[in-house]
Amino acid sequence: MAPRSSVRWTKSRAPNRRLWLLLSLPLLALASLHAAAAILRGANALGRRCALAGAEYSATSPPHPRPRIAMVSFSAEENSGGGGGRRSFRGVMDAVGGNKRAYTERMGYDFIDARRLVDPNRPPNWSKILAVRSHLRHYDWLFWNDAESILNVAIGYSGLQASPDLVVTEDFNGVNSGVFFFRRSEWSEKFLDTWWNQTSFVRFGSTLSGDNAAMKHLIDSLPSKELGDHVRVSPMQCLFNSYPWFPTWKNAYRLISSPLTTWRGAYSDGDFMVHLAGLDEKKKWIAKILRELREAGR
Ligand SMILES: *[C@@H]1O[C@H](CO)[C@@H](O)[C@H](O)[C@H]1NC(C)=O
Ligand SMILES: *[C@@H]1O[C@H](CO)[C@@H](O)[C@H](O)[C@H]1NC(C)=O
Repeated sequence: MAPRSSVRWTKSRAPNRRLWLLLSLPLLALASLHAAAAILRGANALGRRCALAGAEYSATSPPHPRPRIAMVSFSAEENSGGGGGRRSFRGVMDAVGGNKRAYTERMGYDFIDARRLVDPNRPPNWSKILAVRSHLRHYDWLFWNDAESILNVAIGYSGLQASPDLVVTEDFNGVNSGVFFFRRSEWSEKFLDTWWNQTSFVRFGSTLSGDNAAMKHLIDSLPSKELGDHVRVSPMQCLFNSYPWFPTWKNAYRLISSPLTTWRGAYSDGDFMVHLAGLDEKKKWIAKILRELREAGR
């Protein structure tokens, strides 16, 4: 009798246990996702350094003579086509313009809203090249950033001084053309002209307009000496191009497949800038992040 009852016992118990395991796995995964988001958001408090040692940013000691710097940006709302889709840029500039202006005023930079320079023959993202090119000769440095980005902590001068003609960051896809610095030079002008001329990369009706791929292609095809002399890829993406890390399955996949890249680029409290790359419903996120910054008293 005893063996039979023990068999029955395991038989009825085992599927139960498996069921519980199956039910709790998604919950466990969800909990880990949220834990990962909290850890990444606190990356700076956990010791992540976005600036290179010795090139820490501080707004207190500008070099002499003080370089002329402008931030160039636009939001091509009228031309972005598709109107109010989830990826819409509608109202984005209105939402972040004040933040950008306040930052540039604080830093003594000019702010250039280049929305008049948009070339209607290409997807609007391409016109950043025209915008930067046409203002470059009036400044020592131009800082391009997409209207979707929000500035918060000031970047200093020391990192800029040590840098060559083009300063960019890398994310999961390599070089990112959403945020970059150009120094006034013949090399920069030629690079911008060549970039604009990469017409085979132009894409319509896609979430990717091709300007990023074209920039990446140009940088990849530079001879290594030229690359070393003129282009600086920041070792840390969070130096000036952090992406917010939300607990989504796509982000989870990226965290697992490229943990280091995620760590270097995830937006954490105190970062210089947050860039809402590839996010839907940008205005909602902008409002959320601006609210958090206000609450943090920055
Ligand atoms: C334009 O660039 C931004 C950031 O670089 C990107 O998030 C957005 O998807 C791009 N839009 C198009 C249409 O390529
Ligand atoms: C870009 O294209 C224009 C027009 O075809 C040409 O005049 C110019 O020399 C090109 N510039 C570069 C740097 O390739």
